[in-house]
Amino acid sequence: MVLVKNVITSWYGFLYKLVFFEVINIHRSYRYKEYEKSFRNPANNKLLLEDSVEYIPSPYYFLSLLVKKLEKIEGAVIDVGCGSGRALRYFERIYQESGKYIGLDIDREILSSAKSLKQKNNSQIEYIEEDATNFKFPKETRLIYLFNPFGKKTMSMVVNRIVQSSKKFTGEVFIAYVSPVHFELFESSFEKIYSNINKSRKGIIIYRLLK
Ligand SMILES: C[S@@+](CC[C@H](N)C(=O)[O-])C[C@H]1O[C@@H](n2cnc3c(N)ncnc32)[C@H](O)[C@@H]1O
Repeated sequence: MVLVKNVITSWYGFLYKLVFFEVINIHRSYRYKEYEKSFRNPANNKLLLEDSVEYIPSPYYFLSLLVKKLEKIEGAVIDVGCGSGRALRYFERIYQESGKYIGLDIDREILSSAKSLKQKNNSQIEYIEEDATNFKFPKETRLIYLFNPFGKKTMSMVVNRIVQSSKKFTGEVFIAYVSPVHFELFESSFEKIYSNINKSRKGIIIYRLLK
């Protein structure tokens, strides 16, 4: 029993969980061609090359962990750097009509895949082509999802935007940061409500914006 517990909580156990969740969802990744753009087309957008991380879809393991921690969301769910929309499709399936789903990305090509999938799936996700540093978070924002989308400079501008919008938000705002490379930026204006990361900063942190 102790051995099983040690394996599950170890670094290897963590990798096994990632692989397990990807494998059970493999038909989805294939159907949505989620990997096609990331590996076949190198970035050609100047902004994307400056301080950004290229498209890789979120591991399903973290998405499932997140919806277990935040079971209900009423308001807007925003994926900042949404790529082809894997995370938003997952949230839409779980949270359904209680939420409004918005994805923004600066990469036009990856967004065009997201938009064509939207038509096929009769989804309500709204996709916006925009640099995250210019995005105005709507007042009904409830969950901001970030899967390591950019470097420190861009992240700190986005964090400032979120903090500056805090008065206009009509309810509690949660931030889910997967692969939280720059988590220090969240330390002063946010309360950490869940953290499961390793030494290499792989994992997920959930914050609540302090008002
Ligand atoms: C690691 S992928 C995340 C994909 C998606 N969130 C998911 O979970 O499946 C990072 C995405 O951030 C986008 N991105 C990078 N810099 C950006 C910026 N400044 N503004 C908006 N999107 C950006 C990239 O184009 C890429 O699609």
